[in-house]
Amino acid sequence: MKNVFVLRSPIVHLAWPLLLLRAPVLLGAVDFEKEVWPILVEHCHSCHGPEKQNGGLRLDNKADAFKPGDSGDLAIVPRSSDTSLLVTLVRSHDESDRMPKRADALSPAQVELLRRWVDEGAVWKQDSQPVKSGKTEMVVTDKDRQYWAFRPLQTIVPPKVQNETGPKTPIDLFILAALESKGLAPSPRISRSQEVRRLTYNLTGLPPTPEETAAYEKDTSGNAYEELVSRLLGSPHYGEKRGRMWLDVARYADSDGFEADYDRPSATAIL
Ligand code: HEC
Repeated sequence: MKNVFVLRSPIVHLAWPLLLLRAPVLLGAVDFEKEVWPILVEHCHSCHGPEKQNGGLRLDNKADAFKPGDSGDLAIVPRSSDTSLLVTLVRSHDESDRMPKRADALSPAQVELLRRWVDEGAVWKQDSQPVKSGKTEMVVTDKDRQYWAFRPLQTIVPPKVQNETGPKTPIDLFILAALESKGLAPSPRISRSQEVRRLTYNLTGLPPTPEETAAYEKDTSGNAYEELVSRLLGSPHYGEKRGRMWLDVARYADSDGFEADYDRPSATAIL
């Protein structure tokens, strides 16, 4: 009750017209830095910023943002949202024109903010630092130099193990030592048919033939394993398997794989 009385006091009545006069400023005036800039950072700078200037437009600093883009038109025409490409394009219902490109449309509230900002005069007032170019000079720190691949080679004595008969190479000693330290023992040895199967799959991506399996099982000469590895490394299928990985890295596909899904008859299409 007391509050109601206060509101009705003559002083408040007198203040009302003043408040109304101030209203457009209090309610309007979009704050560029707080309201517009974050939209540009999140939705536009990846294509209109320091790295890329699609459509010849850069929206990360005032000087560039007010220059015409490739269309020859201005993105931002102060006090004229209808002729500002920036507003026209974020509003567009035609997906091929609409900005941000290849992304969800801005929300109606964001579009309205941009429109109001332009119609209020597009004041680009910024206290924060302009976006820095992504290209900074590369600095190699001491920590970087500690990366294992950059350290000089040195002789390392393999660790001691209990089961000295198991390991075949010095590398096995490291693995076995770690297993033993955890009270674990290596898995039992696989059969010879499993061995030829795993190796053949591993190196060629294909299973061994029954004859190859039988021959390997029978071969009790000391270097059957080494010979098998040499044979597989010499097989054209080894090259095919490695080549396929390279094609993955080069993003080869048998077809274009998108809207126009045409076949690509040869790998040379991507070279
Ligand atoms: C994924 C990339 C991408 C993003 C993100 C993006 N644009 Fe674009 N923009 C383009 C490309 C590409 C063009 C060139 C015209 C075309 O291909 O439609 C363009 C052109 C424009 C143009 C016309 C420039 C001219 O004069 O030709 C304006 C204005 C524009 N964008 C505003 C924006 C705004 C505002 C945002 C953020 C809300 C935005 N764009 C986000 C890619 C993008």
